[in-house]
Amino acid sequence: TEEQLYSVHKGVYVPKSLHPAESLQYYEQFAFRHDDVLIVTYPKSGTTWMQEIVPLIMSEGDLTPVQTIPNWDRVPWLEEHRAIVLNLEERPSPRVFATHFHYGMMPQSFFTAKPKVICVLRNPKDVLASSFHYYGMASYMVDPGTMDEFMEKFLSGKVMFGSWFDHVKGWLSAKDKERIMFISYEEMVHDLKESVSKLSQFLGKSLKPDMIEKISDHCLFKNMKQNKMSNYSLVPEEFMDLKKSEFLRKGIAGDWKNNMTAAQSERFDAVYKAKMQDVQFKFVWD
Ligand code: PPS
Repeated sequence: TEEQLYSVHKGVYVPKSLHPAESLQYYEQFAFRHDDVLIVTYPKSGTTWMQEIVPLIMSEGDLTPVQTIPNWDRVPWLEEHRAIVLNLEERPSPRVFATHFHYGMMPQSFFTAKPKVICVLRNPKDVLASSFHYYGMASYMVDPGTMDEFMEKFLSGKVMFGSWFDHVKGWLSAKDKERIMFISYEEMVHDLKESVSKLSQFLGKSLKPDMIEKISDHCLFKNMKQNKMSNYSLVPEEFMDLKKSEFLRKGIAGDWKNNMTAAQSERFDAVYKAKMQDVQFKFVWD
């Protein structure tokens, strides 16, 4: 159950085994630098993808980091237990991190140092579908039950890292917008080259077209799936059973249609409409 596997941090569930109290405390004290790059995602929105793309932009296409360092050490989550042992204070700038935290959960230095932020947004119905499969294969997550049951938890935020709606609305209303780049999973699926080009501009790297091409090609779903440093095959089966569902599972936009009934979709749309009515942002899945 939730009580057994999760703890509540700043109002949201976090899986206890990945985010022990010391890690959450470590993050609270963490000193950001102005030239850090922080990848912000609600879970299952494109974290792993960005953990591949951003290091490749930073290394100007040198594949060494993505072929030798597991994604969780290459671009560590600041709230995860590994962050403490990685000596992040000694990493040279520019450092790249990931977080699933909401805007309102960020530690103090985030607001003073003002690092760059890349915030990836994904159609919440696809986030729901992706999460459903992930909860079913990861032993540290609560079994999702039926899609009806899981969807109700998702809609009310009784899932890891809380409500998708709160997460997205919080980041969209963040201050200092000039240091935040919003990008959608769907536009990356639609035109990865264009997305890599935009990301490299935001990161202040001017890359030649053939380099953008090389990076995009490496980060295509079918190619990234082969990278054992990024496809989670290094995680012991007792934690993740990739035979039940692969971590790089489908990699498409719109897979919710294969996972939700018409009635579920309607119910989802009604809640979405109510919760998102005050949001001006133009989502690509609207
Ligand atoms: S997590 O647990 O929050 O780190 O998960 P996250 O990486 O954010 O999300 C996993 C989903 O992203 C898909 N993915 C990709 N899609 C397209 N192209 C590439 N290269 C890629 N890499 C990861 C992954 O397949 C999960 O989505 P689903 O819909 O389950 O396939």
